[in-house]
Amino acid sequence: MKIMVCGKGGVGKTALTVLAARILSERFKVYVVDSDESNMLLPTFLGVSPPKPLVEYVGGKKDEEEFERMEPDITKALAKAKEGVRFDLLPSEYVSVSDEGIGLVVIGKVREYGEGCACPFNILTKILLGNLALEKDEIVLVDTDAGVEHAGRKLEEVCDGLITVVDPTLESLELALMLREIALNLNKKFWVIANKVEGESESLLKKEAERVGLKIDETVRFDQRLFLSCLRRKPLEADIALADLKVTPKNLNIAP
Ligand SMILES: Nc1ncnc2c1ncn2[C@@H]1O[C@H](COP(=O)(O)OP(=O)(O)O)[C@@H](O)[C@H]1O
Ligand SMILES: [Mg+2]
Repeated sequence: MKIMVCGKGGVGKTALTVLAARILSERFKVYVVDSDESNMLLPTFLGVSPPKPLVEYVGGKKDEEEFERMEPDITKALAKAKEGVRFDLLPSEYVSVSDEGIGLVVIGKVREYGEGCACPFNILTKILLGNLALEKDEIVLVDTDAGVEHAGRKLEEVCDGLITVVDPTLESLELALMLREIALNLNKKFWVIANKVEGESESLLKKEAERVGLKIDETVRFDQRLFLSCLRRKPLEADIALADLKVTPKNLNIAP
């Protein structure tokens, strides 16, 4: 099962991806694909050293058109098994594994001023996810870039479902409505997690969500421990958020 974690910038996609990966790793082999071209700290929060970016494995970043033309070659380079791409067949320097056994693959990062857009990374993510050969007990969580760039590249097509994270902001709700539309049209599963809620913001957010017709599936409270552990540049620590997050196989409609 391949699940994208989407939403506005700063809502907590990366933090909840890490926590969800930990929860799911108790029963599944979990891989996290970092498809955000800007943020650098997912390996730190997951407690692993950064793997080599996958873009290097396929010959480095090229411009968008060239990357599109190279799709058959890239697919061939990645798909080492006849059934498709298997993470366990990629060279180990491209997959960092945490103590819990969570594998992290990083697509690539924009590092230099003027190096061009991030489209090639989204193309590569789509090739990777579209050709993945997963076992029943393997789950992939894709930590996406903020907003809708991934939708522009139709990444949703090659996933099974979308977790959309909202926080107590109207912009995050608006984006969630758009993502829901995409998920519904593609017949994909869709969940909404309201994150970082506390006090009055919880009732206000829920009222607004109801007003715009967005169903919130679960709510994760603001967790000071999580917030501070991020700021300390440490593997993510959480108590309240971890207790609140219910990404169980049952909630995700997947067989345990
Ligand atoms: N439940 C939470 N409680 C407290 N802080 C949170 C929570 N979820 C995320 N954060 C904080 O919000 C900020 C943005 O989170 P991040 O996961 O990087 O967002 P995104 O990936 O959506 O841009 C970080 O400082 C993180 O520590
Ligand atoms: Mg992030």
